[in-house]
Amino acid sequence: MKHAHHDTLEQLNTSLNDPETLRTYKEHYDDYKPSLLPRLLGNMLIFFGNVVYGRAPTYLKFRAIEVIARVPYHSWSSASYTHLTLFFTDERRALRYSKSIRFADIAQANETMHVVVISRLAQAEARAGVLRHTLIPILFSFFYFWSSYILYFFHPKASYELNYLFESHAFQQYDEFLRVYGDVLRSKPIESSFLTHYGRTHANQYEFFRAVRNDEIIHRNTSIEVIQKL
Ligand SMILES: [Fe+2]
Ligand SMILES: [Fe+2]
Repeated sequence: MKHAHHDTLEQLNTSLNDPETLRTYKEHYDDYKPSLLPRLLGNMLIFFGNVVYGRAPTYLKFRAIEVIARVPYHSWSSASYTHLTLFFTDERRALRYSKSIRFADIAQANETMHVVVISRLAQAEARAGVLRHTLIPILFSFFYFWSSYILYFFHPKASYELNYLFESHAFQQYDEFLRVYGDVLRSKPIESSFLTHYGRTHANQYEFFRAVRNDEIIHRNTSIEVIQKL
């Protein structure tokens, strides 16, 4: 069951290599307007991220983004788990939470692959500072975890909308990275046993980052699609 889902997602990811398919897929939710609270929180996260890591995409900025991007998925699993501890006799509700855990689990495994492989690649490019690249992302993650958890617990729609904004930012950063460094990335090899374990093979870093970019737009769109199932 889970495997079938994984294969379908991988197919969707590959189809988004085609610029026209990507454009159509992305357009679907480009104009989605999140409510005020997620917008405030999302803008704050992105603003501080730009202040600490700069506006332009870099390996080390991606490392920080990926540490932080995993967190909402875990917070949703955790909040759903708590919900089910309290409301297990309500079958309709249990079904709803079990379904939403599925998206969270799949995306969480995907983001884990991103952070492991990207931090490995970053090692070859630049030196990571303990404060800027390890401690600050942990602080961001702590703040993001609890914002996402509390929102999800009381108003799940707003939590998904916050994720929509963060994933949208991640997508834009990878897209810019591919446009600016495309040629260099095509000449850089990619070797990672974690990536192989995840089930992906790429000829070079361009292919890897393109697949990551596609993952982020899938995360962004799916965040809105699950709202409709709430
Ligand atoms: Fe990611
Ligand atoms: Fe993501």
